[in-house]
Amino acid sequence: MNFHTLFCFLMVASAGAQASTEPDPHSYAEPDKVTVNALALDLAVDFDKRELAGSAELSLDWHDAAAHTLVLDTRDLSIESIHAIAADGSSSPAPFTLDARHPIYGSALRIELKQAAPKVSIRYHSAPGASGLQWMTPQQTASGKHPFMFSQSQAIHARSWVPLQDTPSVRFSYRAHITAPKGLRVVMSADNEIKAALDGDFSFHMPQRIPSYLLAIAVGELAVAETGPRSAVYAEPGILKKAAREFEDTEQMIAAAEKLYGPYRWERYDILVLPASFPFGGMENPRLTFATPTVIAGDKSLVGLIAHELAHSWSGNLVTNANAQHMWLNEGFTTYVENRIVESLYGKDVATMQLVVDDQELLTEMKDLKAEDQLLVTQLRGGDPDEALSGVPYDKGRWFLRFLESRYGRETFDAFLRAYFDHFAFSSITTQDFLDFYSANLEKQHPGKVSAAEINAWLHEAGVPDNAPQAHSQRFDAVDRAAADFLAGTLSAKRLPAKDWVTSEWVRFINALPEKPEAAQIAALDKAWKLSDSGNSEIAFRWFVATVRAGYTQARPQIAAFIQHIGRRKLVQPIYEELAKTAEGKAWAIEQYTKAKPGYHPITQGSIEKVLGL
Ligand code: BES
Ligand code: ZN
Repeated sequence: MNFHTLFCFLMVASAGAQASTEPDPHSYAEPDKVTVNALALDLAVDFDKRELAGSAELSLDWHDAAAHTLVLDTRDLSIESIHAIAADGSSSPAPFTLDARHPIYGSALRIELKQAAPKVSIRYHSAPGASGLQWMTPQQTASGKHPFMFSQSQAIHARSWVPLQDTPSVRFSYRAHITAPKGLRVVMSADNEIKAALDGDFSFHMPQRIPSYLLAIAVGELAVAETGPRSAVYAEPGILKKAAREFEDTEQMIAAAEKLYGPYRWERYDILVLPASFPFGGMENPRLTFATPTVIAGDKSLVGLIAHELAHSWSGNLVTNANAQHMWLNEGFTTYVENRIVESLYGKDVATMQLVVDDQELLTEMKDLKAEDQLLVTQLRGGDPDEALSGVPYDKGRWFLRFLESRYGRETFDAFLRAYFDHFAFSSITTQDFLDFYSANLEKQHPGKVSAAEINAWLHEAGVPDNAPQAHSQRFDAVDRAAADFLAGTLSAKRLPAKDWVTSEWVRFINALPEKPEAAQIAALDKAWKLSDSGNSEIAFRWFVATVRAGYTQARPQIAAFIQHIGRRKLVQPIYEELAKTAEGKAWAIEQYTKAKPGYHPITQGSIEKVLGL
């Protein structure tokens, strides 16, 4: 560290919580020299060309007086021209170079500017195959009448539709002016206007500073229904009513989270229900969570996913991991908070069953992970962040926080977490920042409750430590007995006490089936409980995997319908993986994939092609 960066570091540190200085292995940007503090987009949505075209104006804070090059992240962007904008508003062309394309990180854009240039304006358009956008034909939507487009910027896809410093260590506010075909609605991770005129001209403002991965846009035939005083749901008209009913507890969820962790600081919390090709379950875009329609089970049994995305309004969006190596700060905290919200709304039984399932599935998943992939704080080794997702940052992270809760007591730990969110609000931090705050604000006041070695084991060793608190569900004891009796042949499928089982109980039961179930048993279960026709995506995908393991091919038509319709990677990838284990299954899977591919998002396409060796 030279004197200058040391000075900057001290300034930043004394200002409270601010940008981390740890380099982000996924970005070419140089935030130690200059940071973008505001973005103004002016873009036209062109469905014929499948591109966003227009300009991005970046406002800059220079930290290094000698620096004059602005390095931005891009992927497959066509840069038309770049102008520096002086303090008096005059503009002059700025020379730039675009590096060769790296397959994962894209191309660094290097712009030569005068020292301390306040703003730069970039004219550009995105590529039709932009990795962060999915362009859909009318046939790929629920109504079949209008085209649809949505973004998915996390982890590093914002750079495929906006040239920027694509690292969560940099935060900026943004404005956007977007034009689109008349009659369609444009929504963004910003101040959406419920009553916006659908005249093809939309303006947005996001005054809170956010990291680039939370930049989001969607365009389509979208209707809107209010679900509370500060919440609404946007969806294609055909599913709006059902969606609004499913999400009717949104305000209660926000209130429950506020009671635990302090005020909701983003004003509105709306939900956008996307077409079924959305590659994730949910994405915590600020003010407007993006959600898969597969969360709509009809009985609110999967709305823990909404609790999860809402929880990110504190863990992730307010306090952000400085780079993906510290992703557990986002996802582990959020999975913990999600469970607390579920507990306050739906009770301890429901929350505990979720914990037990997640703990068990994490342990199962970890059996197949290399030791280095079981660490909470990861060392990124140049891989593709899209392929690196596992349950470790989520459930091991959540388990670690539950461990701390169990040692310090819930009341003390809740107060600590609330202080943590307040202290680091609107900043991007590393695990070390968390640890420093933990030492000063929890450990010091309650010495001897947790040792340094224990913390180290959770953060930096493989597996789950032996001191992990074990969740226990009595309702699962009954499920386990039923499963054992069924598998022993002493209880028939018909007589399983499953009439009132909720999602977690079915998941527990399916997970209790042996590695290779007998086809006759699977057939009996299917006959008695119609599991292949389940409208519950969490039950269905696990069930389909079990049918493939058992060689029960009668479920093939339903599997085909499921993987043709749904593009959520977590739901379809395990089915493809299981099918790919036999030559016949793999051939059938490839046949299905070929049909499904045009409807899949680029992220899902990438993962499934890897599974099928295409
Ligand atoms: N932020 C994640 C999704 C994500 C993570 C996208 C990393 C790209 C890179 C989101 O909050 C999430 O975790 N979604 C889960 C929801 C589930 C855990 C309830 C999903 O999509 O399955
Ligand atoms: Zn998440």
